[in-house]
Amino acid sequence: MMIKAILLISCIFAFLSMGVISDSNQISMSQNQTSTWDDKNTTFTVWEVMLVNNWNATIIDLTITATANFFSSKPSDIWNVEKVSDKVYHFQPYLIQNGLSTGENFTFGYINEAKTQATFEISNIKTK
Ligand SMILES: *[C@@H]1O[C@H](CO)[C@@H](O)[C@H](O)[C@H]1NC(C)=O
Ligand SMILES: *[C@@H]1O[C@H](CO)[C@@H](O)[C@H](O)[C@H]1NC(C)=O
Ligand SMILES: *[C@@H]1O[C@H](CO)[C@@H](O)[C@H](O)[C@H]1NC(C)=O
Ligand SMILES: *[C@@H]1O[C@H](CO)[C@@H](O)[C@H](O)[C@H]1NC(C)=O
Repeated sequence: MMIKAILLISCIFAFLSMGVISDSNQISMSQNQTSTWDDKNTTFTVWEVMLVNNWNATIIDLTITATANFFSSKPSDIWNVEKVSDKVYHFQPYLIQNGLSTGENFTFGYINEAKTQATFEISNIKTK
């Protein structure tokens, strides 16, 4: 019984820590695959990424960098974020304007030319 509970807790913890990308839990990130298809020898997958503001402050911007396994060639393959440079994105103007308050989430999406998800890292969190 006890062991089962401990196992369950460690599983939940493992699952949760996969989604956490910033050091201090200011932002949590999770990704869901929403679609997939094959075209010739390439597998395409569509991902929805949710960021939740766990910080006690309104976030007005941040930098999202694709650090691994990101294979999106066309600008239209990623949406709800604004491109800064290759593999680097940030909030769109409306979100910078309104900010992301404590507890609020924000979703962006992308098509990956891969079977698995890309890895993103968050940096340069700016608060109001
Ligand atoms: C797909 O892969 C197979 C086996 O590797 C290869 O023979 C074929 O030419 C590839 N097709 C395309 C369109 O790349
Ligand atoms: C992923 O799916 C789970 C379960 O349906 C849902 O709770 C979560 O909000 C989804 N996350 C994203 C990023 O869409
Ligand atoms: C959040 O910030 C406000 C104002 O700075 C402060 O009064 C409050 O105690 C903080 N709450 C937590 C949980 O840190
Ligand atoms: C994300 O925010 C929307 C409102 O913008 C809310 O309806 C939804 O429940 C939130 N989801 C999560 C997982 O926080």
